[in-house]
Amino acid sequence: ADLRAFVLGLPKAELHLHIEGSLEPELLFELARRNGIALPYATVEALRAAYAFGDLQSFLDLYYAGARVLITERDFYDMTMAYMRRAQADGVAHAEIMFDPQTHTGRGVAIETVFAGIARALREAQASTGVSGYLILSFLRHLSEEQAFATLAAALPLREQYGDLWIGIGLDSAERGNPPEKFARVFAHCKALGFRLVAHAGEEGPAAYVRDALDLLQVERIDHGVRSEEDPALLQRLVDAQIPLTVCPLSNLKLRVLRDLRDHNLARLLRGGVMVTVNSDDPAYFGGYVADNYIACAQALGLSRQELAALARNSIEASFLPWEQKEKLL
Ligand code: ADE
Ligand code: ZN
Repeated sequence: ADLRAFVLGLPKAELHLHIEGSLEPELLFELARRNGIALPYATVEALRAAYAFGDLQSFLDLYYAGARVLITERDFYDMTMAYMRRAQADGVAHAEIMFDPQTHTGRGVAIETVFAGIARALREAQASTGVSGYLILSFLRHLSEEQAFATLAAALPLREQYGDLWIGIGLDSAERGNPPEKFARVFAHCKALGFRLVAHAGEEGPAAYVRDALDLLQVERIDHGVRSEEDPALLQRLVDAQIPLTVCPLSNLKLRVLRDLRDHNLARLLRGGVMVTVNSDDPAYFGGYVADNYIACAQALGLSRQELAALARNSIEASFLPWEQKEKLL
């Protein structure tokens, strides 16, 4: 039978998705027009043509520039609702969505506006489609730990209103030169507050950053982590402790973490007993949503249907859902 139909039919959780990275060029242009913001591209096609990246930083430059069209509560709502519709179409039962408040507060957008728009879309989507959503507030690692503490302080009063959705803390942006150690104190504080913890590590940075994210930040999941293979002892630890990796194959390809999807270590990690999951990262920029990532890997790496089902099952198991809800999806 048809590979896409099979992948769409697997109950899946998406665990590594930056909501700002789901902003498609068409909506980006519409929001720019609505908000009277001039864009350095004449057309949607010209913008899309600029999505050719040499590394993580060349992507981040366009990703942060694109986010400047997000101004009002309605903008954040529209962006999030568009993603939730795509997720439902891909057979996603649950999404754990990262957002970068500092990208917006740094431009004068109130953190209340960011939370309100995203949360309204998640609640409406859950009611109308049944797809559930959690939020992971992510600190930008190119900024200081002091700025992360200030962002946390600004967000904490909103926990009362959004605590059912905002369950976690993450760490993203430029990895090299911004090691986990830089955020050890703020992560310890977030852990004490009862947040679930994740961090990007081992995407462009070395395996040592994955180890340090586990030991110094006490994270429960690693976002990416594909370079963990470079340290056999670390790899064994990931297997033994069943620490989930949220792998994003099309992202790795577009950001030239590898040259060809056939060189991706996803299949090797899975067959070696690592708790790997497949995710889309920034689907508007990398040319595919989560089902596209499963399909591209099935084709490039020769994954069997059993292996695709195992990846989907891993995504449910590695989610932060309460076990009664996981059970219903497994
Ligand atoms: N922010 C959005 N996508 C990211 C990625 N793949 N790595 C680090 N920071 C990001
Ligand atoms: Zn990411």
